[in-house]
Amino acid sequence: MVSIFMGEQPPEPTTDGGTDSGEELEARLAAGESYDPPESFVEQANVNDPEIYEEFEENWPDCWERAADLLTWFEDYETVLEDDDAPFYRWFTGGEVNASYNCLDRHVETGGKNRAAIKWEGELGETRTYTYGDLLYEVEAFATALRDLGVAEDDVVTLYMPMIPELPIAMLACARIGAPHSVVFAGFSADALATRMNAADSEYLVTCDGYYRRGDALNHKEKADKGLRGVEQDVETVIVDRLGDELNHFLGEHAHDYDELVRAHEGASVEPVSRDAEDMLFLMYTSGTTGQPKGVKHTTGGYLSYAAWTTHAVLDVKPEDTYWCAADIGWITGHSYIVYGPLALGTTTMMYEGTPDYPEKDRLWELLEKNDVDIFYTAPTAIRAFMKWGKQYPEGRDLSSLRLLGTVGEPINPRAWQWYYDHIGGGECPIVDTWWQTETGGMMITTLPGVGEMKPGAAGPPLPGIDAQVVDAVGGPVDPGNAGYLTVRRPWPGMLRTLYNNDDRFINEYWREYSDEDADEWVYFPEDGAKLDEDGYITILGRVDDVINVSGHRLGTMEIESAIVGVDGVAEAAVVGGDHDVKGNAVYAYVILEDGQDPTESMRDRIVGGVEDAIGPIARPEAVVFTPELPKTRSGKIMRRLLEDIASGEELGETSTLRNPEVVEDIAESVGE
Ligand code: PRX
Repeated sequence: MVSIFMGEQPPEPTTDGGTDSGEELEARLAAGESYDPPESFVEQANVNDPEIYEEFEENWPDCWERAADLLTWFEDYETVLEDDDAPFYRWFTGGEVNASYNCLDRHVETGGKNRAAIKWEGELGETRTYTYGDLLYEVEAFATALRDLGVAEDDVVTLYMPMIPELPIAMLACARIGAPHSVVFAGFSADALATRMNAADSEYLVTCDGYYRRGDALNHKEKADKGLRGVEQDVETVIVDRLGDELNHFLGEHAHDYDELVRAHEGASVEPVSRDAEDMLFLMYTSGTTGQPKGVKHTTGGYLSYAAWTTHAVLDVKPEDTYWCAADIGWITGHSYIVYGPLALGTTTMMYEGTPDYPEKDRLWELLEKNDVDIFYTAPTAIRAFMKWGKQYPEGRDLSSLRLLGTVGEPINPRAWQWYYDHIGGGECPIVDTWWQTETGGMMITTLPGVGEMKPGAAGPPLPGIDAQVVDAVGGPVDPGNAGYLTVRRPWPGMLRTLYNNDDRFINEYWREYSDEDADEWVYFPEDGAKLDEDGYITILGRVDDVINVSGHRLGTMEIESAIVGVDGVAEAAVVGGDHDVKGNAVYAYVILEDGQDPTESMRDRIVGGVEDAIGPIARPEAVVFTPELPKTRSGKIMRRLLEDIASGEELGETSTLRNPEVVEDIAESVGE
């Protein structure tokens, strides 16, 4: 006997859905129609010469000088790539560079002082604009304050903040003094913060009192304080007062008020520290196969060059643009494409604090119209929600300022692509569907919008200089149209250099599967399935490891499982991703209780609460399925594939190899109820 409790459901469509279910659209989708970028776009594009692919091939790895040339170096690099210690590749060696200088000072020095750098929109309608001059001023003040608190070069500073301007300011202040930052997504729990601070041995935390969500003031400091209680080392904390009188907070020992610090150091000037190209710019913890998050290490020269190059070549950003990446800075997308890429190019980057449906479902389109946004970059999960809400929301706004659209984070289904193209881009904006990862630092597979045709659903060919191939289980070629595994067979400047304090895990996780170590041939394995078509376009099929992608957020099933088995009364748990029409994947938790425990609603609440405490609400299970047994092979391995099929409502595959085939039907029945 199994029983199921369903969690929170996605919002129901409030209208007919506006999804254009007309015959014409069906015919276009069925025909697999492709689209050329409009001539007017191509003419003005930063990159519009198809020869670029060949040029990069012929001139590899020196082609990457084009990326490095987008930066101002204090000291020129001597070598583009050093591979004598592969897979510990080193890029632009001998070069000296500072990320804060490249994102701020050099624009101020070349006439950009009064150009808007960050345009921030608060959830309640407040706005703030920082020019490059303003941003430099505050970054210098805060960098001085951090130094005064004791932050030295190479100390890891943890930033646990929502989408407020002080977050990029703190990132750039850290970069200025050569202190790597480790941003922890504000939606993560206190435990998740503590795990990351301990792993990085971080003795500094910048956080805030709270922030707004759907009009409510949320207490963030409480979570930060709770997290700090789990941190082994002493920590100096800085608190941004985001909510003012709305939420009073007290500063304890070793806690400092951000505004006071900035006021005390106003007008200070701090020389940007000259960093070796290979010095760490930041750490970003991401989910992997085990319960322990991986500290992905990115460097100053290679990462920044790559972020700037892809922002230039793929997002077509120009200094005079207003550019909006509607991601959260707590994830890699925000690092590369809200902060570092756009600011390195001297453009105006937008930041929005709130959610897309508050106060109304046209909030993003309202902001887009108001700010005359030229380029908009978001995730398929958001697009699927917009589709559900209906086309009348974008139709009520003037979106004609848009020139280019982008998506990232998960596969985009052709229907969502088409909706985005028609209703947001007005049929006139190219779309770049960009495949990449926390580890890759920047985009790897996508069309160049000024060069290639677009095929809805396929990310595109690998970018110039990137050697991505789809292979079979033993690394052999896969015929076009067939599914295989994605591999990257040459290094690139934005690549992670290692996992923090864990070189062995770095090699084991990414380089073991397809490399020929004896021949010193190293192949990076991103753990994604993919297929290739005759034109070399790659369609990403999703993760092939124990990582699931929920609303574009990367979660490790093992992390969720260990949270669930930590709940009193739970004996065993298996977590998988089930198909979800808005989120892409939803978390399904199959739970075995200890003898004598009842599968009650309160047990379910404790399980959901346990996951929220360990990770955060983003990992909350959509469904908790109580079962006396999990389907296992004769050797005792849980058959996850079957559990996924059940969660996705798919036809069940072969069960005869199971030790306990009868349990499958029971589980499937109760999920279907
Ligand atoms: O499965 C791929 C999916 O997101 C994973 C990386 O997640 P994360 O490190 O959190 O970075 C997300 C933002 C770059 C990948 O392994 N993914 C990312 N972009 C796409 C995608 N899947 C399909 N299409 C994409 N455009």
